[in-house]
Amino acid sequence: MNLEIKLAELKTKFENRLSSAKSSDEVNKFKVEALGKKGELTQILKQLGSLSVEERKEIGKKANEIRDQLNEKIELKRQEITKALVEEEIKKETIDVTLPGVDYLVGTKHVINIVIDDLVDFFRSMGYTVDDGTEIEDDKHNFEMLNIPQGHPARDMQDTFFLTSDRGNDWLLRSQTSPNQAHVLETHDFSKGPIRMISPGRVFRRDNDDATHSHQFYQMEGIVVDRNITMADLFGTLNITLKHFFGSEREVRFRPSYFPFTEPSVEADVSCFFCDGEGCSICKNTGWIEVLGAGMTHPNVFKAAGVDPDKYQGFAFGMGMDRFAMLKYGIEDIRDLYTNDVRFLEKFEGES
Ligand code: PHE
Repeated sequence: MNLEIKLAELKTKFENRLSSAKSSDEVNKFKVEALGKKGELTQILKQLGSLSVEERKEIGKKANEIRDQLNEKIELKRQEITKALVEEEIKKETIDVTLPGVDYLVGTKHVINIVIDDLVDFFRSMGYTVDDGTEIEDDKHNFEMLNIPQGHPARDMQDTFFLTSDRGNDWLLRSQTSPNQAHVLETHDFSKGPIRMISPGRVFRRDNDDATHSHQFYQMEGIVVDRNITMADLFGTLNITLKHFFGSEREVRFRPSYFPFTEPSVEADVSCFFCDGEGCSICKNTGWIEVLGAGMTHPNVFKAAGVDPDKYQGFAFGMGMDRFAMLKYGIEDIRDLYTNDVRFLEKFEGES
């Protein structure tokens, strides 16, 4: 019965080894050593030849049982190891909510964007669409189509950055958002309804920067075109817009003015909110502060875009966003809007 003892020993030895195995590699190795072709069980079975038929049968049966039992244990051990690995992975992935967080610096909305967003919301609520247009324009849309032909003195009022190209000096940085009037008039399909559009965006003019001048600034253009639009629509729209933005207690007045693309043209003033109309240095003792230019769309602008001026009328306006921001929030130097000093930017936190 020597072999039977050997078998029993083999079983306990590998059971012990298995129970201490830490990886499936180890399990595999033990399996080869115990049950493989050249493994210990095979070695024992090689000795069967020296036994009687009866004994061979019995030991052979025993050996098969032990192989089955060990295989089963190996399988269980493998599952155990995989389960432990998965659990360890899960443990690693759990988040320790008690760890102190990392403080990220969260920026604030720029005051120009606060102003633009407020007005965009306001105009949207009145059914206007919003089109930013492009900062690079051609001479045709920035000037020609707006009734400012070559040599027109109004060109000198907007000292322009021209971009050289192999097509000559056609391209420029828009000096106003008004080219968007030309674009919408050119492309609008009036069978789908009237034009009611605003265009907020950056414009550029050659200028020496100082407290009140900047070579780049923001405007918001507006244009409304339909049948039977009158100056009363212009007055009404701008009146409520200015009261919405500067406060319902402000008074609004319109003065005659001149722009090549509107006729008649006006400028709007609001009563000075620093002295309430008494007269101070900000309003140059007039009691009024100029805030925008506007007017009824000039027939030549309609014609240049292929719109019949006998059928359609419209009004347009242009507002300076920098000026709006400076007046509303008491900003004294326009350069503060572009130098992006965080201490300045943070002052407007919570304004929108
Ligand atoms: N584009 C004009 C400017 O920059 C403003 C304006 C726009 C005036 C629309 C009238 C109508 O000065």
